[in-house]
Amino acid sequence: MKLKLAVLPGDGIGPEIMEQGLAVAKTVCEKYGHELSYEYGICGADAIDKVGDPFPEETFKLCMESDAVLFASVGDPKFDNNPNAKVRPEQGLLAMRKKLGLFANVRPVTTFDCLIHKSPLKDEIVRGADFICIRELTGGMYFGEKYQDDDKAYDTNYYTRPEVERILKVGFEYAMKRNKHLTVVDKANVLASSRLWRKVAQEMAPQYPEVTTDYMFVDNAAMRMILDPKFFDVMVTENTFGDILTDEGSCITGSMGLLPSASTGEHTPVFEPIHGSWPQAKGLNIANPLAQILSVAMLFEYFDLKEEGAVIREAVNASLDQNVRTPEIQVEGGEKYGTKEVGAWIVDYIKKA
Ligand code: IPM
Ligand code: MN
Repeated sequence: MKLKLAVLPGDGIGPEIMEQGLAVAKTVCEKYGHELSYEYGICGADAIDKVGDPFPEETFKLCMESDAVLFASVGDPKFDNNPNAKVRPEQGLLAMRKKLGLFANVRPVTTFDCLIHKSPLKDEIVRGADFICIRELTGGMYFGEKYQDDDKAYDTNYYTRPEVERILKVGFEYAMKRNKHLTVVDKANVLASSRLWRKVAQEMAPQYPEVTTDYMFVDNAAMRMILDPKFFDVMVTENTFGDILTDEGSCITGSMGLLPSASTGEHTPVFEPIHGSWPQAKGLNIANPLAQILSVAMLFEYFDLKEEGAVIREAVNASLDQNVRTPEIQVEGGEKYGTKEVGAWIVDYIKKA
């Protein structure tokens, strides 16, 4: 097929991991005879520095004209430490999600057998854990009315029925494709927005009689993820809860550098690692490119190119098995590999596969 990508490397380690993700995409396209074209767009702190806007109109246009967006990460400490900054790199990411209508963020949490020991949790708890968190991505406190002065501030956790319905539908459909177990995570004992979620979910559940639907308060879900992550098959939740729970999920896998995600909705889908821009590691060739590379696998799978996705997953598994790993998951005393070397090894593996 013809595939046009918008490539948004962003800030910090973004450009380094993107280089590897893109190399993998090119290799797979060559191998399977797909015609790949791509164009770079600016976003985040990089775009603020260049044009004063973290998601410039040009980048938006590029995204709209592409089949998919490959995104890396945004964020820079010079903004984090300045509460008075008027524009922030993260606003670029939020603008992209909103303008592309990407309401469904799919974040798989899986384990790799050879990395089980990297999880702070006990082997028997994490081994075999495999679930998907579906995070609502364009509503809630991230986008609701906000106010801030020196003495008070608020964010509004605003949701409408159609917004809740469409994301729950994604949850039910994923559950149907998997083990038919959906957990709706909310805080319905306290929050009105959560009560709407629960009410809508209860109304929809009878349309999916094969799915076992249960409801869990978010505090309990956070605990359950650590005590018994295998309980979960598909979890669906609002924007902020999903943000928090998926960082927690990365501890099950053992490294933030391993978790990809797909954001889909009304316009061009975006594929991106769940981690941030790790500015301290910028330029050091130590960032793990696997979350980005696995995001490329999700991209191919989105277009129903299953073999293409599978060969990337196979290459990633092989690299881990053969200790071709970035420092944070390296076996002690083993050979040292950086971002580039891991990427190159995976490219090479795919070529030969
Ligand atoms: C994520 C990130 C973003 C979010 C930040 C960078 C705005 O943490 O994708 O999870 O909170 O959504
Ligand atoms: Mn996050």
